[in-house]
Amino acid sequence: MSDDKIRVSRRDILRGAGAAALVGATVPAQGAPAGKAPAGLSRVGPGPVECAFELNGKQKKITVEPRVTLLDALRDRVGLTGAKRICDRGACGGCTVWVDGQIVNSCMMLAVDARGKKVTTIEGLAQGDKLHPVQQAFVKHDALQCGFCTPGMIMTCAAMVDQGKAKDRASIQHELAGNLCRCGTYPHIFTAVEEAAR
Ligand code: FES
Ligand code: FES
Repeated sequence: MSDDKIRVSRRDILRGAGAAALVGATVPAQGAPAGKAPAGLSRVGPGPVECAFELNGKQKKITVEPRVTLLDALRDRVGLTGAKRICDRGACGGCTVWVDGQIVNSCMMLAVDARGKKVTTIEGLAQGDKLHPVQQAFVKHDALQCGFCTPGMIMTCAAMVDQGKAKDRASIQHELAGNLCRCGTYPHIFTAVEEAAR
């Protein structure tokens, strides 16, 4: 823990890494002088904060309170509802997006922590009319039933394919461990990812 203050996300809190209660997006650690941010960090909130980030290749600026998750900002402020709020606690992967190319459960990240980063949602995965190979394979192999988990599944699968992590059935299953499908469509999903990886 730093000498003065730390930034915490909801994920940090659940992991037990955060030792103090959330106040805005910057919290004082033990012994820190109250109300003063350490060098290199700025205190934000508790009122609305301007958040500028790249969203699906375009610059986006929104104003949200520091308590707002990236998922809620995307769905309720920006109007992109592809990422789904299912468990809202990091357990299902339905809200998966990419932040700087890495998969993130957007229900577990504060929108203010996305400032200056590149956010990609399912709405930004295709290049115009050209679907990502994982999207094409999902269609070909009928890798969905109700479709509620599908946006998050595809974002995780596309990341693993792009990053060369879909080496075999076992590695695909490992990479998908954080994405749950209540309809049990897993065999079709695994087959789709295997084909996209080829
Ligand atoms: S809604 Fe985010 S992990 Fe389930
Ligand atoms: S297709 Fe229904 S939850 Fe996965």
